[in-house]
Amino acid sequence: MFPEGEYSAKAPDTRPTARILLVRDAAVQPDPLFGQVFKRHTHRGVYEQRTPDAAALQALRESVKGLPVHVGLVTRGEDAAMVRHAQIAMDAWRTELVTPRTLLESYHVLRIGPKEIVQHRDGIALNTRMVRVVDSLGLFDRTQASAPDSSEIKGQLERFNAAIASTPAYFWLSTTQNDRRTQLLTGRAYVRAQLTATAQGLSMHPLSQALQEYPEQAAHHQAVHQLLGATERGHTVQMWTRLGYGPAIGPSPRRGLEAHLAKA
Ligand SMILES: Cc1cc2nc3c(=O)[nH]c(=O)nc-3n(C[C@H](O)[C@H](O)[C@H](O)COP(=O)(O)O)c2cc1C
Repeated sequence: MFPEGEYSAKAPDTRPTARILLVRDAAVQPDPLFGQVFKRHTHRGVYEQRTPDAAALQALRESVKGLPVHVGLVTRGEDAAMVRHAQIAMDAWRTELVTPRTLLESYHVLRIGPKEIVQHRDGIALNTRMVRVVDSLGLFDRTQASAPDSSEIKGQLERFNAAIASTPAYFWLSTTQNDRRTQLLTGRAYVRAQLTATAQGLSMHPLSQALQEYPEQAAHHQAVHQLLGATERGHTVQMWTRLGYGPAIGPSPRRGLEAHLAKA
């Protein structure tokens, strides 16, 4: 990890995150989670009503053993906590959408329709008929933040809030440290947890808005750290996700391996 040193706490730089050595070794059994890699997708839609069962939740807890993270889980039945999770997630999402600067950050990486999606293979892919039509008519100006009461923002909030309303469980990872190495290992933990969820038929959808550190989110950042017991333990919440059963969905576009490798 960080073979040329860790980035500062302020911002990532161009130094590599990791050096990876691929060694063929017939004696090593692949981790069974590899079998889930091509099935794992981020599901942002409405989930089924049923609550994840205890065995699935236990598998999630065990999946990150040995990594420096604390796992949190809450399900239907713990209704007061569920209501708070839902409220903070919706408030934070709204803040992101009505803050012109953060909304434009997303607009700048929107890929609308098959042509843009294939061309970029990253960012936020939108391919519904409605959005494509509006865009092709020149009615969607991606250089201007939509007004909070516009149909775009109202529609996004409605879809998000419906997804939240359907959510039967939330999952989170917090850490005592917040250095780059811990962040990287948390990424590893999240991948392991999501692959384990996939093996259990479960989907995850990160809710990162309240975890972000820009001033407009400060109240939600504080609220979620309080709710998850992170404030009292001095933890940083690194990932917070919805968790539930959703219909199968296809893969997101990818830029491919070459785009991520440092040239020697
Ligand atoms: C640290 C981190 C935070 C993320 N937060 C969000 C989020 O808040 N909302 C969201 O829709 N996607 C979020 N994503 C993106 C998705 O989880 C996912 O990585 C991406 O959309 C690729 O799709 P896939 O998981 O289907 O391959 C986040 C990803 C990472 C690595």
